[in-house]
Amino acid sequence: MDESGYEKRLAEEGEVWGRVAAAEAEVIAPDWRFHRTLRHNAIMHTADIDNFLAGIQPGMTALEVGCGSGWLTLAMAQRGADAHGIDISRGAIRIARDYYDSVRDTVSGRASYEVADLNRITLPPQKYDVVVGKGVLHHLSEVGHLLDQIYCALKPGGLLWLADTNGHEALPTVLLASVLTFVLPTEISYRDKLKGLLRFGWRAPERIKASMQAEGLSPFEAAGREHDWLAMIQERFIIERRIDMPAVTGYVTAQLKMPERPARLLLKSLARVDRFLVRRGLLHNTGVVIYARKPGREMTDT
Ligand SMILES: C[S@@+](CC[C@H](N)C(=O)[O-])C[C@H]1O[C@@H](n2cnc3c(N)ncnc32)[C@H](O)[C@@H]1O
Repeated sequence: MDESGYEKRLAEEGEVWGRVAAAEAEVIAPDWRFHRTLRHNAIMHTADIDNFLAGIQPGMTALEVGCGSGWLTLAMAQRGADAHGIDISRGAIRIARDYYDSVRDTVSGRASYEVADLNRITLPPQKYDVVVGKGVLHHLSEVGHLLDQIYCALKPGGLLWLADTNGHEALPTVLLASVLTFVLPTEISYRDKLKGLLRFGWRAPERIKASMQAEGLSPFEAAGREHDWLAMIQERFIIERRIDMPAVTGYVTAQLKMPERPARLLLKSLARVDRFLVRRGLLHNTGVVIYARKPGREMTDT
């Protein structure tokens, strides 16, 4: 892709995520204390993120790559860290800064935010105890460049925490997601689902796969799926812990249209079965949480 094509796509990427952040901020403040109770987070992410945050201590230096509206950067600052968030979206960063300004008196640490392109960024050497990224690697065309920069920016023994998708959805996973979203109530009426099935026939799972991979949502949505970032991390860091996310629960959670209480009960049970099937190798998940360490003599206490 030539330079002007890249810049144009990147500008669109920033605008898309600015709109997402603005729509979200209309409903809920960009603050983990509130976000952690949202249905999607409660089912899929809250335990893992709370667990990660428990290791953040006052005085730590932290960087978030792809911080969006800044809630995770802020959460680290709320635990006393000096936390910096980087994102390409001017709109999202504006929301992050405005919200931080409105609560900064209550924050024991410090948060700062910056608009920059992670595909081309140069980070300061050995500055951070912790670097985090949630849902950003699969949007990058130069994952290797960013991982090299993160390696350089971490102090020896520093922690890299990543939650992201790695690879493509496998057929059994797509088929199960197709069946579940067909059977369970979603935004789409049963009549329209049936019409879709008759119209697309054997191509219907392909459409579900595209939907699971959020194809077309943003110009770089699939760019990073072509890189095996897990292998790239293994080449550079010591992987201390890997948590495999459920394979279909996240997608079903996003689609399900049901009153809150029964929905949560159903989704929690589904998540348990889903994790079991993933552990047994019967379902293939793409969502992974990684705790990786930069090798070094002084292991920081995270
Ligand atoms: C799926 S969102 C995740 C946002 C946030 N981490 C969260 O979990 O709410 C991906 C984020 O990556 C950012 N992003 C995508 N490409 C980027 C790039 N080249 N440089 C910096 N940020 C980028 C987007 O603007 C967006 O905010």
